[in-house]
Amino acid sequence: MCGIVGYVGGRRATPILLEGLHRLEYRGYDSAGIAVPHRNRLKVTKAAVRVGELRELVGEGLPATSGIAHTRWATHGEPTDANAHPQQDASKRIAVVHNGILENADELRARLTADGVSFASDTDTEAIAHLVAKALDDGAESLEAAVRTALHDVDGAYGIVVIDATKPGELVVARNGSPIVLGVGDGEMFVASDVAALVRYTQSVVYLDDGELATLTADDYRTSTLQARSTAKSPTTVDVDDTDFQLDGYDNFMHKEMHEQPEAIRRALLGRLDERFSTARLGGINLDARALRAVRSVKFLGCGSAYYAGQIGANLVEELARLPADAEPASEFRYRNPVIDGDTLYVAVSQSGETADTLAAVRELQRKGGQVIGVVNVVGSAIARECGHGVLLHSGPEVSVASTKAVTSMSFSFALLALLLGRVRDLSVANGTRLVNGLAALPELLAEILATEDQIAKVADRFHEARGMFFIGRVRCWPAAREGAQKLKEISYVHAEAYQASELKHGPLALIDETMPSVVLVPDDELLAKNVGTIEQIKARGGPVIAVTNADLPAGLVDAEIRVPHATPELDPILLTIPLQLFAYHLALRLGRDIDKPRNLAKSVTVE
Ligand code: F6R
Repeated sequence: MCGIVGYVGGRRATPILLEGLHRLEYRGYDSAGIAVPHRNRLKVTKAAVRVGELRELVGEGLPATSGIAHTRWATHGEPTDANAHPQQDASKRIAVVHNGILENADELRARLTADGVSFASDTDTEAIAHLVAKALDDGAESLEAAVRTALHDVDGAYGIVVIDATKPGELVVARNGSPIVLGVGDGEMFVASDVAALVRYTQSVVYLDDGELATLTADDYRTSTLQARSTAKSPTTVDVDDTDFQLDGYDNFMHKEMHEQPEAIRRALLGRLDERFSTARLGGINLDARALRAVRSVKFLGCGSAYYAGQIGANLVEELARLPADAEPASEFRYRNPVIDGDTLYVAVSQSGETADTLAAVRELQRKGGQVIGVVNVVGSAIARECGHGVLLHSGPEVSVASTKAVTSMSFSFALLALLLGRVRDLSVANGTRLVNGLAALPELLAEILATEDQIAKVADRFHEARGMFFIGRVRCWPAAREGAQKLKEISYVHAEAYQASELKHGPLALIDETMPSVVLVPDDELLAKNVGTIEQIKARGGPVIAVTNADLPAGLVDAEIRVPHATPELDPILLTIPLQLFAYHLALRLGRDIDKPRNLAKSVTVE
């Protein structure tokens, strides 16, 4: 959420900053801006435009060798030119880019206004620029000291980069709740809110922790706490490089990432199936058989699609391990004062590993002594580090705002966890073997579905004028239906609502008519006859039905059929999610939507 980039070194900063913003645009695209120092002044170019237009506004840029830049997802203040970052103090000496939300922004604004400061924007960020300038005016001995002083007054979440026009060879950065990563180059230093902006230049990175601050010069970086205690940190090497962020001939990242799913699952499988004992190996969770047996229930916590994947996980755990399991949005859990049970295994799920609500839920759990593992895609992310133990998804970088391959890898990892928990309980060798074989077969089955993309595109084309859609699933496939509705809503802006097949007749059937198609998930399982009954009820009211199925449905029952191959029945929800992604994608494409950057959204929600 909001992209931040900073550079200090020997090269022209502007192209590096703009390229970094381009890589981070998926984190917010309401407005963009850049500040570079030149002759003791800061040249700031910012507007309510996307990065491509900012590039045109900046042109060649000045020959500065340092600077900061930002791409915004608006929180305080509308997306206008004035509210775009960088924000500056009144004397224009200081510029700040910020990701996060200040809780005491109104109080700071009132206090600074009473001191005679006039604000040029509606943002909370501007207060930081004024506070830093004030600290310098009051005699702070360095920019670092001034930022430290300013941050003592600030309450809330931030990842910031600050530059002083009079000290162009230095950047000061700080983190509290919003990600900041330093990139260590040879005679140059980078900073960003996400490694995506850095990997073109360096693989050597340093992750800042909450409450940490760093000063960067071309040759060095120095990290410390807000209280000025040194926190000497060595760089680590990231396992992604620039090629992971290229489109590779695809039109957009969502398309590329959907097609990467078989490979992502193959990677997630590596070394994790134990054919000898018909179970899964998840060394990262750090629980031996005795500890696994001591688990009395499992709770999955995540937001949005990660939460729906958690629901798939909860069903799998209940079904395979016969343990009570459920999923809850982390955003609700954190504020609910939940009872924390020492025998429950809590599973925090997040692609980015930075989602503010999920991170807060993890911290709440840890404060209360809960046992929590992380299921995370981004190595080195806050949730991965905070949990210490867990499962890495190995999906590779996900750039599209709409999550696809990471969500599939989440459900897949939960199937591994459920198998592992099941095999230390009542799941038989025969059933364990069936599941191991089923999991091993998934990449191939996913590839088979992806190969039917053209047929799915035709179905999407046929229904692209619908005013809204139902996504109907039952038991195992109910969370998959929720994920299908979520994908359609977020990228096509067509209203979609997911319902349990069993609940339709308790209200929503009133909405069914010939203009309201229903996408019905019909796995070939013990509920097939019930699902066919639901379809008949919809058809009897004139509603068009698109069935996503691996069953043989009665001839003429539905208006369109999207076929999927047979899988191990417990794994059907993973499989049946894939055509729903393709369906949403092609419908959105047909409606001319901006697939990778849907309106009002941003990847990685690091604010509440
Ligand atoms: C939907 C989507 C979001 C994320 C949610 C959690 O396509 O991408 O609903 O799933 O914001 O994000 P992570 O997984 O990064 O915690």
